[in-house]
Amino acid sequence: MPNLALRVEKTRAEQILTLLRGVGLLDTARRVVRSQGHVYVPVVQAPEQLPPGCEVVVHENPANPPRPSLASLLSESFGPQPVGRLPHSFDIIGSIVVINQSDRPPEQLRMVGEAIMGLHRNVRTVMVKSQPLSGEERVGGYTLVAGEGITETTHKESGCLYKLDITKVFFSPRLSAERLRVSRQVGAGEFVIDMFAGVGPFSILIAKKQPRSTVYSVEKSGEAYRYLVENIRLNRVDGNVTPLHGDVSTIFAHAEGLADRVIMNLPYEAHRFLYVASRLARQRAIIHFYSISPREEPSCAADLAARHLDGLGVTYEVLSTRVVKETAPSKLMVGLDIRVKL
Ligand SMILES: C[S@@+](CC[C@H](N)C(=O)[O-])C[C@H]1O[C@@H](n2cnc3c(N)ncnc32)[C@H](O)[C@@H]1O
Repeated sequence: MPNLALRVEKTRAEQILTLLRGVGLLDTARRVVRSQGHVYVPVVQAPEQLPPGCEVVVHENPANPPRPSLASLLSESFGPQPVGRLPHSFDIIGSIVVINQSDRPPEQLRMVGEAIMGLHRNVRTVMVKSQPLSGEERVGGYTLVAGEGITETTHKESGCLYKLDITKVFFSPRLSAERLRVSRQVGAGEFVIDMFAGVGPFSILIAKKQPRSTVYSVEKSGEAYRYLVENIRLNRVDGNVTPLHGDVSTIFAHAEGLADRVIMNLPYEAHRFLYVASRLARQRAIIHFYSISPREEPSCAADLAARHLDGLGVTYEVLSTRVVKETAPSKLMVGLDIRVKL
């Protein structure tokens, strides 16, 4: 395999780099080389459509030095002090890193934050989650650890863009696999209701993957709704996603038998809205139900759904049950696909 690169004029290099990064064609193992007014951008393969002003060439771009590990960067900055337990998890949301651990003194957290910024060059802000997600809006408390402190960012996931402010709205990159899984099930012509849409990641991905679907996205929080509307436009899915602002039980107070698929991503409270979801569902519709279970008893989610559906007199069958993610050391978010009104 020859070492392929795009030969780009200097003035266009940044734009082309962003584009290649976005579509996953940039070869990050090799360096970008500048030479005689041109920039040689290493690519893993030639793009199908060549951006204007680019030429595919065979070019020797030297290999990038291997990335140091977080542990080695930290032992440099900590010197003789013990590094201790490393942050066992952090999330990258656009240009922001959120560390899910807060038991270090602020000075050590700053060093951890700076080491993370050294590893991930696009990261501008590192925050530590200082208060768990709370309230109806599911927003956490965050404290600045390193960097600029800008809390609004645009996150890229599965080819979609989500603008959001982590201090004002809920967003979890750990749900990306679940969103893909659900979106791949949606068939042409389906009517989908995303009952707790947030900034729109389920709705927008579904609309992108299945342009012949219709999605109604309901969101109660004013902040999240504002981003939802902006993200629908940003991803050019205004044609098939309709944002609705308000409480889902009020918005759909009288609607019945509308949806082929209902998404209920409000894990602590979803069971309270099963009466709305099952009323909105058509015959044999699928409800994607999420709930929180203790780690040692993941079956609690299915029991909770069953209790409520039985109480409503709804016929159903559980098609699949899975652990979506860990939400705390002792708690799991569990997802169920339930076919209703058999
Ligand atoms: C856990 S977040 C999920 C957001 C989104 N589905 C995602 O995956 O990022 C739940 C969202 O539901 C919204 N919400 C809570 N109660 C609601 C209600 N009764 N009606 C509509 N939206 C509600 C919250 O404001 C929050 O944005």
